[in-house]
Amino acid sequence: MPLTGIDALAFAGPASYLEMTDLARARNVDPSKYLVGLGQRRMAIATPCEDTVTMAVEAGSKALDNFDIDPGEIGTLIVGTETGVDHSKPVAVYVHELLGLDQRCRTFETKHACYGAMAGLTASMDWIASGRARGRKALVIASDIARYGLNTAGEPTQGAGAVAMAVSDTPRLLAIDPARIGDYTRQVMDFWRPLYSKYAFADGHYSIECYLDALVGARLDAIGECSELLESLTACLYHVPFVKMAFKAHQRQMEIELGTQITREQAARWQALDDSYQRLTAPWLSLNADIGNIYTGSLFLALIDLLRQADNAFAGREVSLFSYGSGCGATYCIGTISEGADQWRDALDPSEHLSTRRQLNIDEYEALVLETDNADRQEKLEPSSFGLKDGLFYVGTRDHCRQYQRF
Ligand SMILES: CC(C)(COP(=O)(O)OP(=O)(O)OC[C@H]1O[C@@H](n2cnc3c(N)ncnc32)[C@H](O)[C@@H]1OP(=O)(O)O)[C@@H](O)C(=O)NCCC(=O)NCCS
Repeated sequence: MPLTGIDALAFAGPASYLEMTDLARARNVDPSKYLVGLGQRRMAIATPCEDTVTMAVEAGSKALDNFDIDPGEIGTLIVGTETGVDHSKPVAVYVHELLGLDQRCRTFETKHACYGAMAGLTASMDWIASGRARGRKALVIASDIARYGLNTAGEPTQGAGAVAMAVSDTPRLLAIDPARIGDYTRQVMDFWRPLYSKYAFADGHYSIECYLDALVGARLDAIGECSELLESLTACLYHVPFVKMAFKAHQRQMEIELGTQITREQAARWQALDDSYQRLTAPWLSLNADIGNIYTGSLFLALIDLLRQADNAFAGREVSLFSYGSGCGATYCIGTISEGADQWRDALDPSEHLSTRRQLNIDEYEALVLETDNADRQEKLEPSSFGLKDGLFYVGTRDHCRQYQRF
């Protein structure tokens, strides 16, 4: 069985963001509910010219360029998204053309709420292990725009962005142990988006319970009834719809190892929980706090945050990863940081992009939401009218066909 895993990683996201304090003030909410209660600082906002395709292409081309991967080496392309741009045509096939990939590349889209990218990652590992890859790599891209609508409970848990990862049998960043991958599936109505709606419907508090149940189930399938895993790990990474969710998830892992569930009040006084969370999870959540919810890419954004801080002492250390998609499906697995991964810290660090983002005020944000609602039907969109200069952008739909142009 070849050693497979993540060979390259890159993030791309919209050029604009909203401060959570501005949103809180506009909604007459105490800002500390968003900053502390949810753990979010900012959220990325996509303009009408930035969509799932453009973000996926930008992330994909960074992963290829920054990690010196020739497009001809890619034999499978999978785009995980729950915010595709067409009921039938996959985002992946636009991305295939725009990245200049070979026609012999197998290309498809996966949809399972926030789980699509993890499904793509494990499918790519299976493709390599089966021998079909014949030395080629897979490219898995998570790309989503989280939209809950103005004045809804989900509004502060929006965001947008794409994470691209190359998968190979010589992973330069993280090898994933095929013997410790566990899965979980259960039909639940915790979050969904009917065909007639651009906005997600969520039973928010129930979705948190479903997430935690899935964590218990997938972890059990991955490693059995182990009560001493956390002590051996260097990081615990989770699906992060909002930062505080990772704390709840970490608490649940601690409870599993303790063999009992504890109350909110007990959790607040549980020093070992705080110590463990501060050591294993909190240091890798800064990008999630600044970008917001990117749905299926959010777990891998936390992985980028970890790897951009990893020095050579991290080589050989183990990390747990938990992906959850509402509806629901989940995977828990264990990865090992590769020897030499620290050489790629600058290549995968998105700090420069984040420092050049434009801050929106609340009126601009609300206007953009309405304009984005109509963007699919616009014949001509001008990226410069949204302050966009360089990059690939969606420029309108002509004769029912979406048009993309690089500026
Ligand atoms: C996450 C979500 C359920 C929060 O809904 P809400 O009812 O508006 O918010 P809550 O009242 O639960 O408050 C959120 C947190 O802020 C805390 N809070 C509230 N006011 C606060 C304040 N002034 N200062 C500090 N914290 C505050 C609450 O105690 C709560 O923390 P807790 O969960 O640790 O108890 C909602 O944003 C949502 O539906 N999001 C989309 C679905 C989602 O992200 N699901 C995740 C699993 S996939």
